[in-house]
Amino acid sequence: MNPPSRAFLTPEADFQGASSGFQKEFRGVDHGPGRPLRLGSYPTPVQHLPTLSTRGCELWVKRDDQTHPDCGGSKVRKLERLLALRPGSRRLVTVGAAGSHHVLATAYFGRRLGLDVEGVLFPQPWTEHALEVLRAAIGAGLRAWPVRSVASVPLAVARRMARGCRFIPPGGSSVAGSMGYVDAARELAAQVRSGLMPEPDTCVVALGSGGTAAGLAAGFTAEGMKTQVVGVCVVRPVWLVRLVASRLAHACARRLGVRLTAVQSAEGRPTRSRLAVDDRFLGAGYGHESPEGRAALRVAEAKAAIVLDPTYTAKAFACALSLVGASAGGAGEGRCILYWHTLSSSPMSRLLEGAPAEDALDPALRRLLFHPQARSRGAA
Ligand SMILES: Cc1ncc(COP(=O)(O)O)c(C=O)c1O
Repeated sequence: MNPPSRAFLTPEADFQGASSGFQKEFRGVDHGPGRPLRLGSYPTPVQHLPTLSTRGCELWVKRDDQTHPDCGGSKVRKLERLLALRPGSRRLVTVGAAGSHHVLATAYFGRRLGLDVEGVLFPQPWTEHALEVLRAAIGAGLRAWPVRSVASVPLAVARRMARGCRFIPPGGSSVAGSMGYVDAARELAAQVRSGLMPEPDTCVVALGSGGTAAGLAAGFTAEGMKTQVVGVCVVRPVWLVRLVASRLAHACARRLGVRLTAVQSAEGRPTRSRLAVDDRFLGAGYGHESPEGRAALRVAEAKAAIVLDPTYTAKAFACALSLVGASAGGAGEGRCILYWHTLSSSPMSRLLEGAPAEDALDPALRRLLFHPQARSRGAA
């Protein structure tokens, strides 16, 4: 049903010789300074999930898990813009939790472009997935700087910047990075126009640093779509996440020369805010598994062959399922719900080839992944 994805540049063609020729890479005709790089394959498919749809409500998925064969997911679109900006420094520093997908993707693509990538990493609860992401990031060539808490991040980053590192924002969520998701919204609009799927009433996506949901909200507005973005909040404090996402969405819209409008009824009346934040699925907080998330993870795997992670996508998918359920009762959000899948589905085994085993990790890095019970005992 979907047209074959167009690979802008295959990974091999894209990166061959890049490590040895950083200057050449950044002077390239295709992706000169300030113009987006081409790291991924687009458009990513849209897919109907009939077994999870109801009579009153269709559930669809946008497969941004397939942006890249080795390191896909939502970070690719952001890094296409962030790694193209101001190529003044060969050294980057970014920030994230120990098992951050953003840090892994920055290390993976940055290193393949011949850049030195450093990451200030803060603690998060241990999960098998978080451990694998941390090992893969180190295997990809990340130079990690563990800190004891989020409060220690600014000083650690300032130190790296004082030594010449260029800062890549957490989650890739600057306005520049979020514009990658404006492109993604346009890509979806084109898929809707060409009849590949109905125009969604609601687009459900995990909401952490905010750039993904913000770019989508601005992009849907610019495309004149009726789609509301529901950002499923995975981190506290919720008020700050809401504020950051809203500001980013407005800034992206300004860059597009439009105003972020509410979703309108057929008669042109504003009905719903363009970007809503849903914190019902957050559970105990960032990185903690939740019962709803665990259930959603099982359903996605069994009924749609989609693999989710406990921190982001399990919570977002749980929200999508609950909106479909609510629609079935007549009180729902709309007839077509699109779950935007942001987790890479590339096999982790490839990224773990040559990565250090858990025991071989620096103890300071291993300690970043704490067992939630141990920490609450320690805090008590
Ligand atoms: C798999 C996954 N989904 C969603 C998000 C959230 O995106 P954003 O930080 O743009 O809100 C992240 C962020 O790291 C992520 O790794």
